[in-house]
Amino acid sequence: MTISRLTLQNFRNYPQLRLDASPGFNVLSGDNGAGKTNILEAVSLLSPGRGLRRAALKDMAYEHSGGDFAVAAALDDVQLGTGTTTDHPERRKTRVNGAAVPTNDLAQWLSILWLTPAMDRLFMEGATGRRNFLDRLVTALEPDHARNCSRYDAARRERNRLLADDHLPNPKWLDALDDQLASFGAMAAQARRRIVETLNQALTLTDKGLFAAAQLHLEDDGLHDRAKLFEILQSNQQADRAAGRTRHGPHRADLTVFHSAKQQAAEKCSTGEQKALLFSIILAHADLIAGQRGQRPILLIDEVAAHLDPGRRTALFETLAKKGGQVWLTGTEAELFEAIPADAFHFKVHEGTATQY
Ligand SMILES: Nc1ncnc2c1ncn2[C@@H]1O[C@H](COP(=O)(O)OP(=O)(O)OP(=O)(O)O)[C@@H](O)[C@H]1O
Ligand SMILES: [Mg+2]
Repeated sequence: MTISRLTLQNFRNYPQLRLDASPGFNVLSGDNGAGKTNILEAVSLLSPGRGLRRAALKDMAYEHSGGDFAVAAALDDVQLGTGTTTDHPERRKTRVNGAAVPTNDLAQWLSILWLTPAMDRLFMEGATGRRNFLDRLVTALEPDHARNCSRYDAARRERNRLLADDHLPNPKWLDALDDQLASFGAMAAQARRRIVETLNQALTLTDKGLFAAAQLHLEDDGLHDRAKLFEILQSNQQADRAAGRTRHGPHRADLTVFHSAKQQAAEKCSTGEQKALLFSIILAHADLIAGQRGQRPILLIDEVAAHLDPGRRTALFETLAKKGGQVWLTGTEAELFEAIPADAFHFKVHEGTATQY
């Protein structure tokens, strides 16, 4: 499934935007600050989660609006809509064909993957970014994962609230939460393991071309086992109470990536090598999604020039054209995209407008 029309209302620097998209390449070019990344961010909101900037909803609303915004997309035979209302600017609400649904349901319709310049720091910074990255990969293959993660996080927040409470009215409440954490946490951790395993197999098979061969490793302290996770939570209740938070569980997991050819951890690789690893992972993952879900994911690649030299850029365009699927690309100059071998829709982005030419 691909987006045939994208409509924005009061989103970032777009009071109004309507854009008819190609099922293949969509190229957005324009000066710094024109609104290119904003369009990719809007598309990224058509999947569960906080979008490609992980920004607060209130920051996404056009600053001269009443605090509400809407992003809508027409797919082949489905209309997706997501956004906020002026009464609840802090809550994202989602509709499919006009009917209200949980936002996590978006994963049933579209798989969306992205690469942005901000992800250059993925291997250098804390585990949270890598966990979010992995969770997006998992959700794109197993849509239920988003819901399991949300339920785990909600139960953990509640558990932390009780842990920090000096007078726990009923210790059974904590036990009940441990039970929920164990169920949703184990399901989430098992899904992560499955995807890491399948992705590693796919990564050994795919043609790396100009990109680097990657292998993934999940560090989750073996907490994918429901009984073990429950036991750890139970036996740590006192110590967690002293710390005021839940110290063990899948929310602490980390993803390590290795450059297979160099036998080196990603954080020790050069910036360019790290980018190549990310591209390998995303491309292999897109193939997996195509194989398992029968449709290619939508790829959002912000600032191709920031990621790749001209040779790698051409190789990327050729690979993407061969595989098919919808791709959204941005760059400051239209010339960056001359090597795209297929028909593409080109949009000039300028001060809150995007004009096809
Ligand atoms: N809530 C908002 N309301 C109005 N304008 C906003 C809002 N949030 C961001 N902007 C503005 O949107 C503009 C475009 O941002 P965007 O990041 O999409 O630019 P870009 O085309 O990707 O630029 P670059 O080439 O520098 O990456 C910025 O000038 C920013 O100040
Ligand atoms: Mg940008």
